Amino acid sequence: MATIETLDVTKLEPRMKHPTIFKYFDALQPGEEFVIENDHDPKPLYYELIGERGDIFTWEYLEKGPEWFIVRICKNPLEEQKEVKRLIVTTIEPKFKHPTIFKYFDALNAGESFIIENDHDPKPLYYELIAERGDIFTWEYLEKGPEVFVVSICKNPLEEQKEVERLNVTAIEPKFKHPTIFKYFDALKAGESFIIENDHDPKPLYYELLAERGDIFTWEYLLQGPELYEVQIAKNPVSETSGTLPEKDIQKAEMLKAKGVQFACSSDKKEESVKAPIYDYDKWELDFLTDYIVNTHHRYLKDNAEMLNDLAIKVAEHHGDNHPELNRLSTIIYHFLQDLIDNTVREDEVLFPIIKQMVAKQRNAETEITYKVGTLEDPINILKKDHDVAAADLLYFRNLTNNYTPPADACSSYQYLFKKIQEFESDVQAHIHLEESFLFPKAIQLDKELAQLN
Ligand SMILES: [Fe+2]
Repeated sequence: MATIETLDVTKLEPRMKHPTIFKYFDALQPGEEFVIENDHDPKPLYYELIGERGDIFTWEYLEKGPEWFIVRICKNPLEEQKEVKRLIVTTIEPKFKHPTIFKYFDALNAGESFIIENDHDPKPLYYELIAERGDIFTWEYLEKGPEVFVVSICKNPLEEQKEVERLNVTAIEPKFKHPTIFKYFDALKAGESFIIENDHDPKPLYYELLAERGDIFTWEYLLQGPELYEVQIAKNPVSETSGTLPEKDIQKAEMLKAKGVQFACSSDKKEESVKAPIYDYDKWELDFLTDYIVNTHHRYLKDNAEMLNDLAIKVAEHHGDNHPELNRLSTIIYHFLQDLIDNTVREDEVLFPIIKQMVAKQRNAETEITYKVGTLEDPINILKKDHDVAAADLLYFRNLTNNYTPPADACSSYQYLFKKIQEFESDVQAHIHLEESFLFPKAIQLDKELAQLN
């Protein structure tokens, strides 16, 4: 039975409220729903959703004040969503205009389209889309001024999108190699493929993909050494989602995974060492460790996210013409921050309270607990995937900023932006290290011990 997600809006930072709700909404499949709770009537959101996503959902009050409002938002089943989405660009806050349009574009399936309406010619967006997504769409003016501009943007059908993305794995920092490849893989739609290039056989990745994602892809060597390896990885079409890889490989992948074998390629073993901890975190009680993470790393993110987002937008606005990669950088920073904030909200509101209950139970067997013991591993694995995505984003920032080297014409804000991203990188790496090396494995272990006592 699928559980319905509930979002307590009062717990979100004001500026993150609407973006987070939109993110939840966009993640819904047709027919799915989620619930928001708030301390005032969220009706403005209703109008915003209608304006930006169109009339494709139902809005039902489960509780209507005066102190608490609960609303169930359900995305209509596909057969009820006939209309092409229309985005009124003038109603969007300036800094969210381009990220929102890109989000709409990225959400399109091949052959689908959406419409944007603006009070001036949105031609710069055309060039930005071409630069960042490639020549994979059509751009058709339905109305061309002088007061209103209406453009239909259609993502080309697959057969017209010939180019396959290539990933040069040797150029990626060792610890980010596999997360990045997984990110590419997860972004594939059924039937799509990408090519990885490497200086040694990436076969360990084959088993890792098989263990983690299952038998849903094909693996074809285009070049097989001795100096260069190229592999085309394709996600199977929906009609053949599994059953294409040899049974013995599947068994081997499962066996390796069960044994906890790391899949790192031989030349990747020299993992970059994470900063040596100043404290001996290994000795800390888990409830203390959760408080520490909340008060240092989650706090840092909350305190700095808005500033970084605004700074990236400002620098892109001023220098984006001469340095178009800044536009991309600001878009990815926006999504990176949203994703990380979502991740910390789930930890603050769900996982960490559970960990505290477990610790209390361990200290006193009489303690009542409200979660089902023995079930913690899967949700923790989901949180770890968020970390992989954040790590891959950070790697991308390094690529886009030439390892945080500002160009000769960079102003002080430009330079500060790079410094600030680098600071984020250090904080996020330390944050992930604490959770993945100490908190998560110990919490899973304790959860298993409590399950055995039951
Ligand atoms: Fe965290």
